[in-house]
Amino acid sequence: MERSERQWLAPRLSRAAQLCNRMPENSDEALWLGIDLGTCDVVSVVVDSQCQPLAVCLDWADVVRDGIVWDFFGAVTIVRRHLDTLEKQLGRRFTHAATSFPPGTDARISINVLESAGLEVSRVLDEPSAVAGMLALDGAAVVDIGGGTTGIAVVRQGAVIYSGDEATGGHHISLTLAGNRGIAIEEAEQLKRHEGQAIWPVVRPVYEKMADIVARHIAAYPVNDLWLAGGSCMQPGVIELFRQRFPGLTVHLPEHAIFMTPLAIADSGIRATEGCYAR
Ligand SMILES: Nc1ncnc2c1ncn2[C@@H]1O[C@H](COP(=O)(O)OP(=O)(O)OP(=O)(O)O)[C@@H](O)[C@H]1O
Ligand SMILES: [Mg+2]
Repeated sequence: MERSERQWLAPRLSRAAQLCNRMPENSDEALWLGIDLGTCDVVSVVVDSQCQPLAVCLDWADVVRDGIVWDFFGAVTIVRRHLDTLEKQLGRRFTHAATSFPPGTDARISINVLESAGLEVSRVLDEPSAVAGMLALDGAAVVDIGGGTTGIAVVRQGAVIYSGDEATGGHHISLTLAGNRGIAIEEAEQLKRHEGQAIWPVVRPVYEKMADIVARHIAAYPVNDLWLAGGSCMQPGVIELFRQRFPGLTVHLPEHAIFMTPLAIADSGIRATEGCYAR
């Protein structure tokens, strides 16, 4: 089945959002686990062979400081907790999981986290490659606006031919909002997620800057489609802004974009030889 945005991707993302931190569905089928270690949150997704999500754990990981991110032991603790929860709820043991890393960073960090949590890594690949592989992208740019960074990658025939990473993301949007409203960053973070429409005029310039950055990164490459992913793309106004900024491109922004990369990681595990859990 061709993986169309509407028929294949949208229902899976919507399912992931519904299942997030809720009781999973049960299944007798083989299952695969994918773990996205973000700077802002850790997301674990369990899928079946059709990449239908059955369980999702998301933990906001409070480990972003000065744009750098990583609290190794904090990440291991969260992964371990997700694993315990999923194993208890699904009544199974997971021995393997797929994971990813931002392009240009060391894959070993993610591998070490999973291994320290007691998992074998069935597959590790960079984030845009996971998205590109899931959707069989060609002549496309993948722009992942997460918590700490914006990742930009150009994909040709499913392979990343260029990637860049910029240190602007949701954290900076919250900082801008906090400054504008004279409120604490934690409060700004909540306001942002729940009052997206109302805060758009305040945060719009930050997204405009991001769109300029994206334009600079992809200028030299043949791109027809621009795929937006990451939690910060869920801000109302973002898709219109990118459509205006890139009138020659088809801009895609699936709903529940925060689950794009985690779903793609789980999907990548299905195609790995040892991705299956041990029954
Ligand atoms: N509804 C929303 N509107 C706007 N921003 C949102 C919304 N929901 C979540 N976010 C933001 O999305 C960000 C988290 O997104 P995501 O999970 O993609 O990041 P990450 O993978 O942890 O970070 P990175 O990719 O930079 O490592 C946070 O900054 C959060 O505030
Ligand atoms: Mg991310």
